Amino acid sequence: MAEPWPGKSRAVLITGCGSSTGLSSGTGQRAARMLHERGWDVYATGRSREGLAPLTEAGLNTRLLDVTDESSMLETVSEIEERHGSVGVLVNNAAYSLNGTFLDTPLSSVRHQFDTNLFGLVKLTQLVLPGMIAARSGRIVMMSSIFALFATAGRGYYEATKYALEAVSDSLRLEVDHLGIDVAVIEPSPIRGGFVPTSVTDLGLAEGSDPELYQEFWKYFVDWHGAYREVEHPRGRGRTAITADGAARVLVRAVEAPTPRIRYRIGVPVRVLSPMRSLIGERNWDRFVRAFFPTPAKALRVAERR
Ligand SMILES: NC(=O)c1ccc[n+]([C@@H]2O[C@H](COP(=O)([O-])OP(=O)(O)OC[C@H]3O[C@@H](n4cnc5c(N)ncnc54)[C@H](OP(=O)(O)O)[C@@H]3O)[C@@H](O)[C@H]2O)c1
Repeated sequence: MAEPWPGKSRAVLITGCGSSTGLSSGTGQRAARMLHERGWDVYATGRSREGLAPLTEAGLNTRLLDVTDESSMLETVSEIEERHGSVGVLVNNAAYSLNGTFLDTPLSSVRHQFDTNLFGLVKLTQLVLPGMIAARSGRIVMMSSIFALFATAGRGYYEATKYALEAVSDSLRLEVDHLGIDVAVIEPSPIRGGFVPTSVTDLGLAEGSDPELYQEFWKYFVDWHGAYREVEHPRGRGRTAITADGAARVLVRAVEAPTPRIRYRIGVPVRVLSPMRSLIGERNWDRFVRAFFPTPAKALRVAERR
């Protein structure tokens, strides 16, 4: 059992521990189990009872919490504060990936993406901070992404939420470190198993858009991302993806380290690409992104060759 914080709240509140689709990577769910096994008072939260059922059956405290629903957040935070004095650790893990081009994505969908991936964690963090400040102790762990370091075609709004998460995390760290509160950011490389796969096709072609414009791109995009779906025996690019267990183990380290790192970069892609961008310069970086990731122009070239 880990004992890093004697006398302080050992309550860990984690968002996004459900698995409604049954197809998600499940990093939050795995981290919740690991922390529970290591003796933390874990409050694993998610949007549905079914999604949380494996954790409930394993004996964890599970609570319904939707990061777009303020009352559900307030209810859970109040309960934890009543029982433990304050939230010891908040892990902001919940997110989904909105896939859609800049042009075709309705603003309402962009808003929903920011409501979930950014404003949700902002509100929840604002709810736990007064308790942490009163206790002069606490830790906030933010799940960012390799896609907070650069942007790709068809995913700009998801990536924008992760860029923004990095900024608010850095700012928050500077505002609370003198109050005994740490802020750590986790930047995983792509995780095997995929990430809310329904969203890939949801916005492929928005109503009213030119069906020709991005049709080939979405076919190529879905096919390209397929490499990351295989969990057990990934091939090609999929081999560079990390496992959800690996990501969860780093998350546990960020929770338990006496002094957490500011950033935890997990996996080879994020560790290599982050220094590479500043090394090769913007124009070459753009060439690299075009060569490696799906773009509409590349998709058309591939379609012509067929
Ligand atoms: N997968 C990757 O390749 C990858 C790479 C880098 C970073 N990340 C980040 O890692 C974190 C975990 O992702 P994952 O890969 O483990 O995928 P995941 O299993 O799909 O986890 C995301 C979780 O967020 C939940 N969620 C979505 N909207 C929510 C809402 N409004 N309120 C509460 N929960 C909500 C989902 O719940 P439901 O099951 O109910 O939909 C799901 O449990 C995310 O922050 C993601 O951005 C992922």
